[in-house]
Amino acid sequence: MRVIRTVGELREWSRAARKAGQSVGLVPTMGALHAGHISLVRAAKVSCDVVAASIFVNPTQFGPNEDFARYPRTFDEDCALLEAEGVDVVFAPDAEEIYPEGAATFVEVTGLSERLDGKSRPGHFRGVATVVAKLFIAAEPDRAFFGQKDAAQVAVLRRTVADLRLPVELVVCPIVREPDGLALSSRNRYLSTEERRQARVLSRALHAVETQIASGERSARALIDVAVAEFSREPQVGIDYVTAVDWATLLPVETVASGTLFAVAAFVGTTRLIDNFVVA
Ligand code: PAF
Repeated sequence: MRVIRTVGELREWSRAARKAGQSVGLVPTMGALHAGHISLVRAAKVSCDVVAASIFVNPTQFGPNEDFARYPRTFDEDCALLEAEGVDVVFAPDAEEIYPEGAATFVEVTGLSERLDGKSRPGHFRGVATVVAKLFIAAEPDRAFFGQKDAAQVAVLRRTVADLRLPVELVVCPIVREPDGLALSSRNRYLSTEERRQARVLSRALHAVETQIASGERSARALIDVAVAEFSREPQVGIDYVTAVDWATLLPVETVASGTLFAVAAFVGTTRLIDNFVVA
């Protein structure tokens, strides 16, 4: 497995692969890899001839009071995992490679970027869209793989790819969960034992909503109330949002239908966790 540090080298590698008739897959990550990331790598391996994973803790997607400084950085373990999965290239640039001195160009997806996580994390999706566009321009992948857990991120990136007419297919992979339902996240490692127990309320709330939908409830208001009632059983957990939205626009719906995104975000201690499902 080759570790590449510069955009130029990554582009050269990708172009050589394409010239040799190989399709290129990209799995963008911030490292601190877990089984959710590995599922993206496996999906990439199945549908692409060669696969690059990027590891870059992107400073522009963190707010001033967020966890950029303490975000887990586990580069050696990450590389060992990626190598075991047969990844061809790890792209691990430094900040200067992605944001050269004086960098002033950003990708701003207006509207969408202010909804869901973008509402409570101003500037977050501007940072995400910018870094992912830069990764796409550098790696020129045929396909790029993202987790459904970050469903609002997926909506923002779909819009970015459509608006910039980037020649890349976004592949969205299912949420990977712990046996008790907690969605995997690099931030789960911040949780104390007690917080880890409390964190189960996110998937429990979603499960309660799914059960109501299965028995015929379609009112978004009623379903949100069901989720909020489940959250109230863990009063230490602070709801950020509970919402039913159109997945493309991230605007609230009144009636849920097939394809509606039902999403939650909550603070467990100081750790902000998210989870969702898409109505079948
Ligand atoms: O989902 C993530 O890990 C990040 O937001 C991404 C897509 C790698 C951009 O930094």
